[in-house]
Amino acid sequence: MTRTDRMHLGMIVLGAGNHVAGWRMPGAEFGSENLPLLQRIAATAERGKFDFIFFADAVNTGIDAHPGMMVRLEPLTLLAALAVTTSKLGLVATVSTTYSEPYNVARALASIDHISGGRAGWNVVTGSSPDAAANFSRDKHPPHAERYAMAAEYVTVVKGLWDSWEEGAIIGDKASGTFVDPTKVHVLNHAGPYYRVKGPLNITRPPQGYPVIVQAGASDTGRDFAAATAEVVFTAQQSLDEALAFARDLRSRARSVGRPEDTIRILPGVCPIVGRTMADAKAKIAELARLIDPVAALKVLSDRLGQDLSSYPLDGPVPEFPPSGMMQGHATVLQSIARRNRMTLRELRDYAAVGAGHRLVFGTPEDIADDLQHWFESGAADGFLIIPPYFPGPADEFMDEVVPVLVRRGLFRAEYEGSTLREHLGLARPSHPRGRA
Ligand SMILES: Cc1cc2nc3c(=O)[nH]c(=O)nc-3n(C[C@H](O)[C@H](O)[C@H](O)COP(=O)(O)O)c2cc1C
Repeated sequence: MTRTDRMHLGMIVLGAGNHVAGWRMPGAEFGSENLPLLQRIAATAERGKFDFIFFADAVNTGIDAHPGMMVRLEPLTLLAALAVTTSKLGLVATVSTTYSEPYNVARALASIDHISGGRAGWNVVTGSSPDAAANFSRDKHPPHAERYAMAAEYVTVVKGLWDSWEEGAIIGDKASGTFVDPTKVHVLNHAGPYYRVKGPLNITRPPQGYPVIVQAGASDTGRDFAAATAEVVFTAQQSLDEALAFARDLRSRARSVGRPEDTIRILPGVCPIVGRTMADAKAKIAELARLIDPVAALKVLSDRLGQDLSSYPLDGPVPEFPPSGMMQGHATVLQSIARRNRMTLRELRDYAAVGAGHRLVFGTPEDIADDLQHWFESGAADGFLIIPPYFPGPADEFMDEVVPVLVRRGLFRAEYEGSTLREHLGLARPSHPRGRA
């Protein structure tokens, strides 16, 4: 398997903390609309020389939801604000393809790429919650396969729009009065099953050519889509064997659609709990568990499994469900961990509360570095999506205590070597289809 020499690290930021009760911890500062806090978190990630920070999103909410997901700044707006207080850090956000138009999104992401000097990334999701439909004048959420078919066409349209302007199209020659070379500006004239878009886009080609495309689906269809489209893949695998199988499968699907192996970075999510000792780390986990709001935690698990769990006995086994069409990837890994560890519904609820269903890694900085190194060197991961349980403490601890261990071991950069997100990730800049990049 072709690998990068060093890990790639990103961080998921939910202003109220990723752990469902993180905001209640002593020292936690919270607020998904708290720009000064979010700017400090971004500065922390940049201090740790992270590849990027990432803001997840949805276009629906509920008052029983995870506090970090209940209310939040619209992420592309937020990225624009963070672009001016950071200089190297990649800036990645989710935008749903089911509930937006490609022209608007191509334009907004191109704007962020220009504003940030080439640091934008787009997590392409099809939107797992059916509740979003009612916010967009729709009677129903499109089925899973149709959402992915829409997404595939959508990404093609967005890329086509990003190619509207060849490099050098704006001449700006004061003497002749020639502003633009019209031969370098192209209409798209896309007409497909879901979208009809003429173009051109009203912004020039993004500095990165295309902002980095991220994807996090894990169903069969989701994997095919990721293999064809994604440059970074987020996953929620809980065991090394499952992660290895996932990485092999994704890379083989990518090969079968003609993509070179080193064009995808697979980043499993991990929630690190850093302690002075293993006992200290375990005490922190216990304290977080004690603060969990059972209703919010069960809602997080219900969303992950795609079923309303409120009527099942908490001390009974985790019910087995067929694929839901919601978050199939999360559902599969969580059900497998419950089966492997013979967990009750209550135990799985508390486990999923920690990092919204991602893997928990805990212990001293060396213990955590050992675990990440093992996954990285075994080929299960090209790096990790770090999911601090709350902010700012655990994010600072990761940067100041775990990152230096990774750097000393030669596993992570000590300084940024490039300035765009593509350069951090070691991904090539896509040339313009007319060969003029
Ligand atoms: C790390 C990670 C982050 C995700 N972020 C989002 C998000 O911001 N919004 C969203 O709707 N889904 C998000 N998802 C869910 C996936 O993008 C995907 O939509 C979901 O798993 C359903 O696709 P699947 O059935 O192919 O697995 C995320 C998943 C993972 C693992």
